[in-house]
Amino acid sequence: MFGSFAEHIGRCVYGGIYEPGHPAADKDGFRADLIEAVRDLGVTCVRYPGGNFLSDYNWKDGIGPKEKRPERIEPAWRQLEPNTFGVDEFMRWCEKSGVAPIMAVNMGTGTQKEAGELVEYCNHNVGSWAKERAKNGRKEPYGVRFWGVGNEPDGDWQICSMESMEYARKAVEAAKIMRLTDEKCKFIFCGSCSPQSANFPEWIRKVLETAYDQADYISLHAYYTYGAAGDVGDFLAIPVDLEHYINTAVSVCDYVKAVKRGRKDIMLALDEWNVWHNQEKGRDESPWTVGPPRLENYYDATDALAVGGLLSVIVNHSDRIKIGCMAQLVNVIAPILTYKGGMLVKQPIFYPFRAFAKRAAGRAVLRTYADIPTYLSARFGNAPYLHHSAVYDEKTGEYTVFVTNAGGGHTLTLDFGTDRVVLSGGERLTAKEARAVNTPEEPFRVVPQMIAAEKERRAVHTVTLPEKSFSVFVYKNL
Ligand code: AHR
Repeated sequence: MFGSFAEHIGRCVYGGIYEPGHPAADKDGFRADLIEAVRDLGVTCVRYPGGNFLSDYNWKDGIGPKEKRPERIEPAWRQLEPNTFGVDEFMRWCEKSGVAPIMAVNMGTGTQKEAGELVEYCNHNVGSWAKERAKNGRKEPYGVRFWGVGNEPDGDWQICSMESMEYARKAVEAAKIMRLTDEKCKFIFCGSCSPQSANFPEWIRKVLETAYDQADYISLHAYYTYGAAGDVGDFLAIPVDLEHYINTAVSVCDYVKAVKRGRKDIMLALDEWNVWHNQEKGRDESPWTVGPPRLENYYDATDALAVGGLLSVIVNHSDRIKIGCMAQLVNVIAPILTYKGGMLVKQPIFYPFRAFAKRAAGRAVLRTYADIPTYLSARFGNAPYLHHSAVYDEKTGEYTVFVTNAGGGHTLTLDFGTDRVVLSGGERLTAKEARAVNTPEEPFRVVPQMIAAEKERRAVHTVTLPEKSFSVFVYKNL
């Protein structure tokens, strides 16, 4: 649920994860300050290596002695790919960062055979690819469980984009080889690249009608920005759209299950989501260089509230969303920015993600019933002022409530049904300065403030939520 995404694009890998020569680089060339920030963020898994990059990537270019790896032009983002970071480096970086890998296979220019060979390289203990892996320094299989089968073939910008049936047939046969190679693998088939796609939700129905037996998950991608009028209330209503997107996708999955007289539920992998404003430097700045700037977004306090609202939707749908990846991890539409040879900055959106990843770690999401005033948003219709979720962590015995206030001052009354509850702390981030950002000069301008613990036992707690704020309340039942 609290995963991320690392693509070979811009300065995500080269200059973000991997910067040999940086004062904080370890012997593998990985920035240790980034690894520390990833651990602080609480990221659980990372999808790799793309993204649009994936659809023309040959994973075999990125293994073996670095001096022998080919330097290639990379057409998806018009950059130069030195291949000095590949599968083995990614796996080592995951182990150092304490995250699980989600590998994706090329279904654009790639073949089913190459996809099967990658599973063999990563997961097998016998055969030529296992020997190759051992030669490259890793005897033990990596045991990668989660596999994305392609990336956004429904988008016409994708290298080798496809019709739903072409994709489904190709991906089914790839998954077949991959599963025969390692039966423990789970497969994420490509669903829709956007809630706004003309082919949503039909694409999902058509793909699943062919791929139901091989698919474990269907992916959804969702990026949000301001509407044409640039209205903040309208922007902060984006959770309404994500909710609708998820509900529709679940309905389609369940429809296909019914048609197939199936027994399994297809789960959702929301494996690219975020707010994304700046399309500049998309492909054109410094083409054909290694790690050129691409999609570098500077997020402000309002974006943090938007992300808090989206995360509540994700948590509230955790019965079906079993994989979630905020896109991306570093420098490219990311919660973390790194500077060449220099420091690292945690953007405002870092903090709501961290709050959820750290505090929504239990196994129970609570259903909350709330009477919340609404307003009319131009793009999404009626939107509640408050977006909320609540979880229970059986290990700590804590109840945590997350609430984003998109409008004016509101109070929230929590009724616990017992009089033995104490507030044991929390945090709050406000967007009083709506456009405030964190920079190398002022890295802590937008950070959460702690909410102090109380001694008083309560049955009901009424809290005032400041205008434009994201709050986390942690309670313990004594
Ligand atoms: O995350 C940036 C890009 O957005 C990815 O490469 C692609 O999958 C999506 O369109």
